[in-house]
Amino acid sequence: MAKLKTERLTLRPFRRDDAEEFARLAGDWAVASMTSDIPFPLKADQAMLWLTPVRGEVRFAIEYEDRLVGGAGFYSRASGSAELGFWLGRPWWGRGIASEAAREVVRHGFTRHKVPTFTSAHFADNAASRNVLRKLGFQPAGACEIQCVARGHDVSAMTYWLDRAHAERAIPGLARPAASMGRLRDFITWARRGLEKAKEPSVS
Ligand SMILES: CC(C)(COP(=O)(O)OP(=O)(O)OC[C@H]1O[C@@H](n2cnc3c(N)ncnc32)[C@H](O)[C@@H]1OP(=O)(O)O)[C@@H](O)C(=O)NCCC(=O)NCCS
Repeated sequence: MAKLKTERLTLRPFRRDDAEEFARLAGDWAVASMTSDIPFPLKADQAMLWLTPVRGEVRFAIEYEDRLVGGAGFYSRASGSAELGFWLGRPWWGRGIASEAAREVVRHGFTRHKVPTFTSAHFADNAASRNVLRKLGFQPAGACEIQCVARGHDVSAMTYWLDRAHAERAIPGLARPAASMGRLRDFITWARRGLEKAKEPSVS
């Protein structure tokens, strides 16, 4: 699996020796209770299950200042769209890390995995996740109930989708190179015409 770099982060595959730190950070109630599938409490041997992506999953460990601080990734749905997920250990909240990591994962999904559309969801009481998704260009799709393993019951959730056009408006540098090349060609043609015109003899 690829290793991705952002301004402050390294996104890399999880390793077996991440299990203990994964369990400590993701097993925090404040994190587990905002995800659908992380149990509470979470033990290191259970955390092992999250370290190896199952077929079709793309799952990155987020490293900040050489420490494991969270995770971000996606899995393909039967429809072909990819469901985005992310979490961050509580000590690192509020520094823009989730936004920076999720942006890179979405960029990677569109460019390397040819993801046609992303979907995602957050529990209704999770404003931070809503803000991360909206900053990436995710569009509200509706509301539903999603199971929360940690809370032990279904929880109201908001669902979202993101196509490439919306992502390109929200994520700098995602626009297809072909489009930029097209714009560059247009500019060169325009500049050439200007030069030719300037060379034409003028009538005074
Ligand atoms: C959601 C989560 C990943 C956000 O991580 P983070 O690194 O703190 O997020 P960022 O710093 O990138 O902040 C994203 C935006 O949300 C805002 N935000 C952060 N915490 C917030 C809160 N508690 N309430 C409202 N807005 C909040 C930030 O101000 C920022 O918006 P801005 O750039 O316009 O200022 C983190 O809180 C988390 O792991 N929570 C538990 C697990 C979880 O919810 N995972 C997502 C499941 S859908």
